[in-house]
Formats: sequence, C-alpha cells, structure tokens
Amino acid sequence: MIIAIDGPAASGKGTLARRLAAHFGLRHLDTGLTYRAVAAALLAQGLPLGDEAIAVEIARRLDLSHMDRALLSAHETGEAASRIAVLPALREELVRLQRAFAKAPPGAVLDGRDIGTVVCPDAGVKLYVTAAPEARAKRRTAEMLSQGKEADFASVLEDLKRRDERDQSRTVAPLRQAADAHLLDTTEMDIETAFRAAVDIVTAAR
Ligand code: C5P
Repeated sequence: MIIAIDGPAASGKGTLARRLAAHFGLRHLDTGLTYRAVAAALLAQGLPLGDEAIAVEIARRLDLSHMDRALLSAHETGEAASRIAVLPALREELVRLQRAFAKAPPGAVLDGRDIGTVVCPDAGVKLYVTAAPEARAKRRTAEMLSQGKEADFASVLEDLKRRDERDQSRTVAPLRQAADAHLLDTTEMDIETAFRAAVDIVTAAR
C-alpha cells in the first residue's frame, strides 16, 4: 500500500501524511526533507547551490531515517531547497532513494510535489492537497509565531506565492495534480475535518 500526497507549501499535506501513516500502520517520508537536507549541507559548507555534482554526492550519502524537520525548518533552507530542486541529476538521485523507501514493506505514505506524477505513479491512492494562498499563509504565520519565530502575514504570503510559482513552472517534475489524484481543498477545513476526509478517500480506494 502506497499513499502519494502532493500539494503546495503549507497546504496541510505534511500533517495529513503523518496522521494517515499512523492511522493505516504505514511508514512516512516527507520528501521535502530530502531536498532540505541537501540544501542545508551545501549552505553549511558555503558551496554554490548550482553545483549539481556536489549536490548529487551529498544526496547519495543521505540517511532517510535521520531526517528531522525541526533541524531543517529554517526559511533559508526551504528557499535553497526549492532552488536546487530544479537540478535534474539531483532529483534523479533523490527519487531513487524515495522509491526504495516507498517499496519496502508494509508500505508507506510519501508527501511532496511529484509523488503521484513521478516518484510513485502506481501508488494505490493519490491525494492532491491544496488551499487558497491566503489560508496557507495564515496557517504558516500562526505556526511560526507559535514557535516563537518572527512572522509577518504579507511577507509569508509573498513567499509562498514565489515558491509555488517556482515549483509549478520548473521543467523537471513540476508541481501538478496527477490525473488520477483525489483533490482535497482544505481552505475551509480544520485539520481534523481534512484528516477525516482523507481517511474516507483512502478507505474507499483500498
Ligand atoms: O515541502 P518543503 O517545503 O519542505 O519542500 C522544500 C522544497 O523542496 C519545495 O519548495 C520544492 O521545491 C522541493 N521539493 C520538490 N519535490 C518534492 C518535495 C520537495 O521539488 N517531492
């Protein structure tokens, strides 16, 4: 059983993926963390983000069991991740790791931008989770403030829109809804309602 979840930043897909994995007894991989981990390593070593060969080398040595969102949550890390995510050879390497994770028993929930379209096109269930940019910016702002970080709604919104634009317009594996993905628009939903809706979709598809 593989559940593929895609969608833009702050759509709620990460929380849904984690909760669905716990609910159905599956493993979970937040694939955004794989891009963030490579970006963080490049930044830490002061290496150029465009150096594909080095990025691939770092990707080869990633340990998927030690991916911690708290350590990789910095704004600059997300920004750098979305910049290196356009490098085809890097994506190829990360997709290889992600597929190996997905295939191991008992199955997995993967969330990201290209899971239903590229990483796991044969997934048993595909969800495309989205919400209006303003709703996503509101959630992201509240989340940052609750973590004691500085956050300003207008700049968070600008930022999300810029990231969406970059993720949707790149030539390799752009963010888009797979033809056979179920659309879950969480604009008017709280997380509990969205989770119930996702469980219903997965249960019906099993
Ligand atoms: O989801 P998160 O914000 O952690 O992802 C960081 C960046 O990594 C995204 O903006 C996107 O450019 C890239 N990414 C990707 N493909 C994935 C997951 C993330 O291109 N499957």
